[in-house]
Amino acid sequence: MYGLSVLAFAVLAVAAPAPQRNRGGNRNGGGNGGGQQRATAQQQAAQVPGGISQAQDGSTIVDDTVNINGLPIRFKVSAPADQFMANTNIPGAAATAASNGTMGVNVLLHGDGGQSFFDFPNQNVQANTMGVVLLAPDPNLFWGGGQGLERTDGVEHAQAVSDFVTQALPQMVAFDPNAVVFSGVSGGSLLMSGFFIPSQMANFPNSAVELNCGALPPQVDFVNGAQVLSQTKIHYQSTQNELASLQQSIPQAVAAYESAAAQAGLSTNEINQLQTVDNTPQGGHCEFDGRDFVDGVQVMLSSYASVMQGGDGTVQGIGAPSNGQVRNGVVGNENLRFGAAPRRRALDGERMTVMRWAAEVAGN
Ligand SMILES: *[C@@H]1O[C@H](CO)[C@@H](O)[C@H](O)[C@H]1NC(C)=O
Repeated sequence: MYGLSVLAFAVLAVAAPAPQRNRGGNRNGGGNGGGQQRATAQQQAAQVPGGISQAQDGSTIVDDTVNINGLPIRFKVSAPADQFMANTNIPGAAATAASNGTMGVNVLLHGDGGQSFFDFPNQNVQANTMGVVLLAPDPNLFWGGGQGLERTDGVEHAQAVSDFVTQALPQMVAFDPNAVVFSGVSGGSLLMSGFFIPSQMANFPNSAVELNCGALPPQVDFVNGAQVLSQTKIHYQSTQNELASLQQSIPQAVAAYESAAAQAGLSTNEINQLQTVDNTPQGGHCEFDGRDFVDGVQVMLSSYASVMQGGDGTVQGIGAPSNGQVRNGVVGNENLRFGAAPRRRALDGERMTVMRWAAEVAGN
């Protein structure tokens, strides 16, 4: 079941989300005890206008919101203009409604606080694959809601992501439904591995998921598990100084998916082709370049096709001492070695939250 507002695309030019400051009555400002309550991350994000803009590679970016199963799903699609459906009235749109395109789609789920939604590190076309990012329908902009490793809305959010791609996206842009791949960053990776892969990946044949700086063992039953595990590439990418909670949950996820694949009848060799893992760069949470969250995430997404879509597995610009080659089969590499975690506040959701974009909103 889904409740897509079909007419949304016809009014794209004026569809920037309305600001919702609601300073007096919001109960999700959290922790600033008394006095004026802060706007939630979701409310602050609503102050960033949507609309149409240009990607770094000249593609057209459309930023709009649709209602999926009662959840507001704000999205950005970045594609060559002529791939948008002509009836969207996007300048240059030329695709025919109800036709499949030839391009693939890389759907990215951001980490807690939404930073990668605003950065859109997969906006450039790569390996004939367009980029899509989705903003979590949650006051804190946490994919799966909850906090830390407890993603209490994981089932509903995974369903909404799947329904967005299968129901809403085809009305917007032409793409090949057999070439849909996924990327997670931090909290987005928790939703992907904890909920989306088991419950929704049967809808996306021959897919791939890059789980950056986060993973959870499956939290729900598999749907068509044998098919999903035999067709889905999974790469886990972390760093040596990963957050303490993730230093535990990433190896647990690696072991759980490996074991599920073995139970589904895959050989060691087949598992190592499909499931790969690396955490060699020295750096903190998502600092894959050895230095910085935003640049680190960009490094992984810029080499996405190399790792996930049949390339040689080399990541350009990854941090030392990695040699750039990250596709290590999981079998025999389950026990990742980590260094010191940033600080000893285990299972602390706060440290996963990155919201640099909000400073720009406040500075306007
Ligand atoms: C688009 O691709 C899907 C999946 O292969 C297929 O079921 C559907 O019939 C195709 N639609 C068109 C209009 O070709």
